[in-house]
Amino acid sequence: MAKSITVRAPSSTANLGPGFDVFGLALDAFFDEVKITKKGKGIKIVTSDSIPTSPQKNTAGLVAKNMIQKFKIKDGIEIKIKKGVPAGFGMGSSAASAAATAMAINKLFKLNLDSNSLVEFAGMGEKASAGTVHYDNVAASILGGFVIVRKNPLDVIKIEPPRDLALCVAIPKFAVPAKKTKVSRSVIPSKISISDSILNLANAAAIVVGFMKKDSTLIGKSIIDVIVEPARQHMIPGFSKVKKNALNAGALGVTISGAGPSVIAFANKSSNLKKISSSMAKGFATANKKCDIVICRPSKGAAVIKN
Ligand code: HSE
Repeated sequence: MAKSITVRAPSSTANLGPGFDVFGLALDAFFDEVKITKKGKGIKIVTSDSIPTSPQKNTAGLVAKNMIQKFKIKDGIEIKIKKGVPAGFGMGSSAASAAATAMAINKLFKLNLDSNSLVEFAGMGEKASAGTVHYDNVAASILGGFVIVRKNPLDVIKIEPPRDLALCVAIPKFAVPAKKTKVSRSVIPSKISISDSILNLANAAAIVVGFMKKDSTLIGKSIIDVIVEPARQHMIPGFSKVKKNALNAGALGVTISGAGPSVIAFANKSSNLKKISSSMAKGFATANKKCDIVICRPSKGAAVIKN
């Protein structure tokens, strides 16, 4: 019986504009690796990255704790985390570690969980960083591709993205608040108008159809959110300029990636990705901010890379 297993899980972008807490898309921009070994007693977290190592405060630790309790696992485990996804920038960093951990424990202890259960356990890890459980990033990271999260009961639907969908992500270089996701969730209005909900619903429906029909243009031009993006954009210096520049450079749609502060532009094979990327960097420069640019594609989901 295997004593250790290593799983690699991709970064992801959540919301895709109007699909707050519902839509997720796995991205091949970055990956986290988690190695779980049966060892010692309790849960021990080992990492050289600057993340919490107390299991209660660490995304992967929380997932492991819940799974160990639920399945009455007697063995101690060591969780070795190698971060590839930058933490705190809206790229599904906490979700990637949580997704990899849920999948690794499932395989190592032969739990045979279905994908909805894996997403449910991985979502518990989000509590460590966001304060609440949400499933959009973890679902994308586990299943890969585009996901729609239905709740009560949890039911994740996956759709393969079009082959020509391409994305430019601008990751600004400034310090994000501790508990950034919690902070950026606190600015979202608790009540919305029916007219705003109609606009978002229509665009969300069009995005789903775009993925079903493999129509990147329809996806891109439906990335319009009149509820969450306006409430959060003040937290991203230069956001409106970054968005305007990217659209002028040919992006089909632009929005905040997850809870931000990264900005993501949707494009297809006929777009000039370099031009879009440099226009986004120029947008951040107008606010005296530098950024990293990543051109990426949709990714497959978490997978075992070693056992
Ligand atoms: N849907 C979540 C949010 C994703 O926007 O707060 C956070 O990673």
